[in-house]
Amino acid sequence: MITVKDLRKDFIKYERKPGLIGSIKSFFNAKKIITKAVDGVSFTINEGEIVGYIGPNGAGKSTTIKMLAGILTPTSGSILVNGIVPAKDRIRNAFNIGVVFGQRTQLWWDLPLNESFTILKEIYNVSEADFKERMKFFNEILDINSFIKSPVRTLSLGQRMRADIAAALLHNPKILFLDEPTIGLDVVAKMKMREAIKHMNKTFMTTVILTTHDLDDIEELCSRIIMIDKGKIMYEGSLDEIKDVYGYMKTIKFECAEAVEVPDLSPLGLAPADLSAEADFRTLTIRFNKHRLNVSEITDFVLKRYKVLDMSVSEPPIETLVANIYETGEVVA
Ligand SMILES: Nc1ncnc2c1ncn2[C@@H]1O[C@H](COP(=O)(O)OP(=O)(O)OP(=O)(O)O)[C@@H](O)[C@H]1O
Ligand SMILES: [Mg+2]
Repeated sequence: MITVKDLRKDFIKYERKPGLIGSIKSFFNAKKIITKAVDGVSFTINEGEIVGYIGPNGAGKSTTIKMLAGILTPTSGSILVNGIVPAKDRIRNAFNIGVVFGQRTQLWWDLPLNESFTILKEIYNVSEADFKERMKFFNEILDINSFIKSPVRTLSLGQRMRADIAAALLHNPKILFLDEPTIGLDVVAKMKMREAIKHMNKTFMTTVILTTHDLDDIEELCSRIIMIDKGKIMYEGSLDEIKDVYGYMKTIKFECAEAVEVPDLSPLGLAPADLSAEADFRTLTIRFNKHRLNVSEITDFVLKRYKVLDMSVSEPPIETLVANIYETGEVVA
């Protein structure tokens, strides 16, 4: 459905020196600064997939989405969106895609929301029957009617985002590009947004690319993620694989009846990197590599030595794992 090959986008800036003399000097020999916002990205997305496009601030996510939507022209490389080159055929591309930029509305600022929908209906040739049915659906899931008569500029952020996604879905596009669709939404609004995306994907096999900093969006929606940093893909695969590769250390906390000391772990026969213990008054904490030992082996070991009142098992949250990858820039093989 979407093929991207060796895609690049350079932004060129000319450095200006301060002051009048500086700006005259800069006029003749300004230093050229090139930002490689997208630096050789390739991927394929199949029909009906929901793919999370994630990465730290400034990674090049929005720039990629803008090129896919035909808003920006690539410096080099190729893009095919449902057989169309977006930058060459913006209008035809527009009929296939729906776009939401969470940071900025696509709606007419001063018009009441319902008029925006009427205009979009005409632009995209949506039939009266489809229009009615979809508006009903948007109201059911996104509660649009409660603010449909208000001018867009008066809507709250959450209302505006719901309006934006409804506007992007009105012509039932084959492909959805969502750039931070849940930014600034409260918990309930986020759930509704995710529900709307899931529903469209299930009912119409809508293909979705989603950028977000909320990894719950990814866990709930995406079968696959593409992670980029500094314009380059650093990981492609499932969240589960990341958990497996980075999140293999589990922690068990035992609440004991009396004060404890760190036990001798040598009977378990593992190196400290794979197994370690900490004692803090009545709490014994054991960290272990889940590929080497399982929870029951650890609990057997501890229960034989201590009187345990309570225990809990935890794994590092996905946020921590992803933050580690962003920070270290380590690429998963
Ligand atoms: N129009 C532009 N002119 C010059 N530089 C730009 C332009 N748009 C983006 N950039 C630069 O390109 C890089 C990638 O920006 P982009 O907006 O794609 O990042 P992003 O991954 O969407 O980040 P965020 O998570 O903060 O939204 C940044 O260094 C940014 O400053
Ligand atoms: Mg962005």
